Amino acid sequence: TGAVTYDPGFMNTANTKSAITYIDGAEGILRYRGYPIEQLAEKSNFLEVSYLLIYGELPTAEQLSDFDNLTRRHTLLHEELKNFFSGFPRDAHPMPVLSSAVSALSTYYPDSLDPFDPAQVERSTYRLLAKLPTIAAYAFKKSVGQPMLYPDNSLNLVENFLRGCFGVPAEPYEVDPDVAKALDVLLILHADHEQNCSTSTVRLVGSSQANMFASVSAGVNALYGPAHGGANEAVLKMLNELKESDMSPEEFMTKVKNKEAGIRLMGFGHRVYKNYDPRARIVKGLADDLLAKLGGDDELFDIAQRLEAVALEDDYFVERKLYPNVDFYTGLIYKAMGFPEKMFTVLFALGRLPGWIAQWREMMEDRGTKIGRPRQIYTGYGERNYPA
Ligand code: CMC
Repeated sequence: TGAVTYDPGFMNTANTKSAITYIDGAEGILRYRGYPIEQLAEKSNFLEVSYLLIYGELPTAEQLSDFDNLTRRHTLLHEELKNFFSGFPRDAHPMPVLSSAVSALSTYYPDSLDPFDPAQVERSTYRLLAKLPTIAAYAFKKSVGQPMLYPDNSLNLVENFLRGCFGVPAEPYEVDPDVAKALDVLLILHADHEQNCSTSTVRLVGSSQANMFASVSAGVNALYGPAHGGANEAVLKMLNELKESDMSPEEFMTKVKNKEAGIRLMGFGHRVYKNYDPRARIVKGLADDLLAKLGGDDELFDIAQRLEAVALEDDYFVERKLYPNVDFYTGLIYKAMGFPEKMFTVLFALGRLPGWIAQWREMMEDRGTKIGRPRQIYTGYGERNYPA
């Protein structure tokens, strides 16, 4: 097998070729299928971006309408799958509920599992896109002890999800268009990010020819960690702790710089962006607008801005090229929208889904893809004899 290259964390290893997402970390550039993220965030919508990522081109009006109908028509979960939610403890974190339910989808759709049959891949694509928001809303309802609402397919994906989370059967629910728009933009910003940890996981699992549900479920689990999607929840925990403690943001930053107990400034730093994260800039703008309108937690916002101000001036952060990433301000927006912290990473998963699907499909279309199978540098014992 020849010489093995040691590259922990795959800092320098490209595991695949891909035509989906382009990032220039030094310049702070992010493009989906060639379109700059700033233009998509301003002019497109999450459904259209999902289509773009998965099929490679912006849809015509007719293609978009077909795609919209298809994803609206498949929002219902199988009634038996509904029972599944009652098996979890009341305070279950919604991320493991989400990954378990996504994995369980494969048991209901044996007609959608063959990764090399285009019709089956289509079916698993629209089923996942349509059902993930329903699963996420059910996981939310479970955690607050309210009844789960059947989706209302007169609403679009984002509206339906908001109603599924915040609606109750006893009252009509009115979607706040500003909240729906802001959530739509946040989903666009999270929709793909080339070979990040969860996407690489989706590809690695899929490389064994595992079906799309199994691969995406693994992606959800990879996203759960605080160094990846779990960072948005961790940021809010950090801000809350600072709010409740006597420590000033400046004192906290001294601890971070001294690496006391491995504390990191959550929502800062990125493996690829070494200048700024273009998504963070858009999120900051959204936070300014939406928190003014919804009346967010001013104290938390203030702490976040003070932390950012210290970091942007401080040698520790400047030398290491650490800037706010997409997750630094998202939590404050989600909180103002009414989501509890536990749901933040679920929202990231909803956004990342089209990216996972697009990357999985790209890999499967390339029938020559080899199974992912890294090597290692062995550091254990040489041969030794079992005691006589
Ligand atoms: N706070 C304090 N120091 C940091 C931070 C931080 N947030 N991030 C990196 N560093 C330091 C780190 O200690 C190291 O210093 P030294 O060279 O003295 O050992 C240096 O910067 C390089 O860090 P690294 O861990 O080698 O960098 P990485 O590319 O492996 O890690 C990262 C990238 C995002 C995991 C990391 O920056 C981090 O843990 N950030 C906090 C968690 C976070 O916000 N994650 C969300 C990432 S964006 C959305 C997503 O992908 O999910």
